[in-house]
Amino acid sequence: MPATSLIVNGNPVSVAADPDTPLLDVLRNHLGLVGTRFGCGAEQCGSCTVLVDGEPEKSCGKALSSVAGKAVVTIEGMGTPDKPHPLQQAFLDEQAGQCGYCLSGILISAKALLDRNPSPSRGQIAAALDDNICRCGSHPRILRAIERAALLMREGAAR
Ligand code: FES
Ligand code: FES
Repeated sequence: MPATSLIVNGNPVSVAADPDTPLLDVLRNHLGLVGTRFGCGAEQCGSCTVLVDGEPEKSCGKALSSVAGKAVVTIEGMGTPDKPHPLQQAFLDEQAGQCGYCLSGILISAKALLDRNPSPSRGQIAAALDDNICRCGSHPRILRAIERAALLMREGAAR
């Protein structure tokens, strides 16, 4: 089996798997990064969203071969319980979620947005989450949490 090299959460990894294996399977089953969720498996729900070279991508629809040499960031790469990303802290503060199944994908999409636009309008936040479904209907709290995180990050940058 050929090995494919990529960078996951800042660490170089080499994965011996069929090059057609979906990135989601590689992350969960080969690398043990189970924070990225399988929802639909058909690029429809966004629960499997990760960053690939800084862009949000649905990992269920990306073959391992398509990320060779690229940098992938998963929810595990955003923060830790001891040192959460401001988005993770804001989601906790706003209790922005119910079952939580969608949240890793939503947090990754939100990170991609704030990385390129530190001051998004509510409409821009909603548009950035267009591809992320939350069946629990937590959208109002999710939007508030992202606005809160953006403010925290702007204040942190100004210090
Ligand atoms: S599991 Fe990938 S979009 Fe739903
Ligand atoms: S919090 Fe349950 S699907 Fe979003």
